[in-house]
Amino acid sequence: MSTCRICAGAVTEFLDLGRQPLSDAFRLPDDPSEEFFYRLAVGVCGTCSMVQLMEEVPRERMFHQDYPYVSQGSSVMRAHFRAAAERFLAAGASFIVELGCNDGTMLRVVAEAGVRHLGVEPSGAVADLAAAAGVRVRKDFFEEATAREIRAADGPADVIYAANTLCHIPYMGSILRGVDALLADDGVFVFEDPYLGDIVERTSFDQIYDEHFFLFSARSVDEMARRHGLELVDVERLPVHGGEVRYTLARPGARPRTSAVDELLAAEADLASRTTLDGFASRVQKIRSDLVTLLTDLRERGERVVGYGATAKSATVTNLCGIGPDLVEFISDTTPAKQHRLAPGSGIPVRPPADFAADYPPYALLFAWNHAEEIMAKETAFRESGGKWIVYVPEVRVIG
Ligand code: SAH
Ligand code: TMP
Ligand code: ZN
Repeated sequence: MSTCRICAGAVTEFLDLGRQPLSDAFRLPDDPSEEFFYRLAVGVCGTCSMVQLMEEVPRERMFHQDYPYVSQGSSVMRAHFRAAAERFLAAGASFIVELGCNDGTMLRVVAEAGVRHLGVEPSGAVADLAAAAGVRVRKDFFEEATAREIRAADGPADVIYAANTLCHIPYMGSILRGVDALLADDGVFVFEDPYLGDIVERTSFDQIYDEHFFLFSARSVDEMARRHGLELVDVERLPVHGGEVRYTLARPGARPRTSAVDELLAAEADLASRTTLDGFASRVQKIRSDLVTLLTDLRERGERVVGYGATAKSATVTNLCGIGPDLVEFISDTTPAKQHRLAPGSGIPVRPPADFAADYPPYALLFAWNHAEEIMAKETAFRESGGKWIVYVPEVRVIG
């Protein structure tokens, strides 16, 4: 049992994913320091239904100068963020604040349009990339105190936006008090994160890792908003990152509530039930044993397997299954800050895509399955060489 970070209710564990490292801590091969581990387990609040981690990793361990993830690594995501920016601009927003703006993929569109904005981003190297792209950035964690300072200096925000960031933040009370301090009376707080409904439906258990503290649903977000004097007024399903929901919060009565909210709430009737979550947990164990069996068989047959995409998600899979360099030779990844390092916990080397193309393996384990369409469309030479993809979500399968 632990205490809910939203409502202080009792959180009951339903899945233990074991001892796990920091998902984005890619280590230099000669790093002598001891690696940090914590227990990754997930539970559900019996009061407000919020699904959340049982243990919290201190934020400075995850988000710091060398945080390696960049948003610009996917062309689909670049188009997605351009469309989000254009929508805010078309609605006439005159001051847009983004939490977790990362390398500024969304805000650079706003900056190019000459519209007032601010990115709040604690991770130094990625914040520098945003600044270099012309984005106004504050290198800081967003929380109540930061929000009050921004409000005093810059006035109210028409839009506060956070993509794949709000679910990273356990201290939600401070965040929502900050939103309340900063948001204009008729402003909107828009955030999008992996959706519990999709995670359960696709058994995408690797969406669970240190940075993903909350797995939101319409029901839990509705409760969370209400407890902080805000209202959930719209939801929109998004196809990105394996299924997300974009939630829009506003001050009570400021905006009409769309029927999409009621429809999603109705569709979620059994989502947070013990039966549903226990079923999810047992499907995870099946994937684990199927994947270990497949990779072990391939090793016994002397077949090479290379990982594709050193995602944060891949830390959960490799460490849950005990997959090391004996089963996966290396992981190909486009992110400079991950290359020539070892993946957390597993110690699998990360190498640039050129190393993958130089000597195609017979099998590639698709850790970046959320970018499958984009990746499969560009990796035609791998397929033509006879290469096959291994996926493990929603079940273990060899494609090709
Ligand atoms: N929005 C980008 C980046 C998501 S990664 C995208 O969708 O691709 C999550 C980001 O949130 C990281 O860059 C991290 O540094 C940032 N972050 C973590 N805690 C934060 C906080 N309290 N305030 C603002 N940003 C935060
Ligand atoms: P994400 O799933 O958290 O967005 O991470 C995707 C990772 O995969 C990131 O490290 C970049 C990498 N990647 C590639 O190596 N090749 C690709 O074509 C894409 C889209 C991502
Ligand atoms: Zn709760």
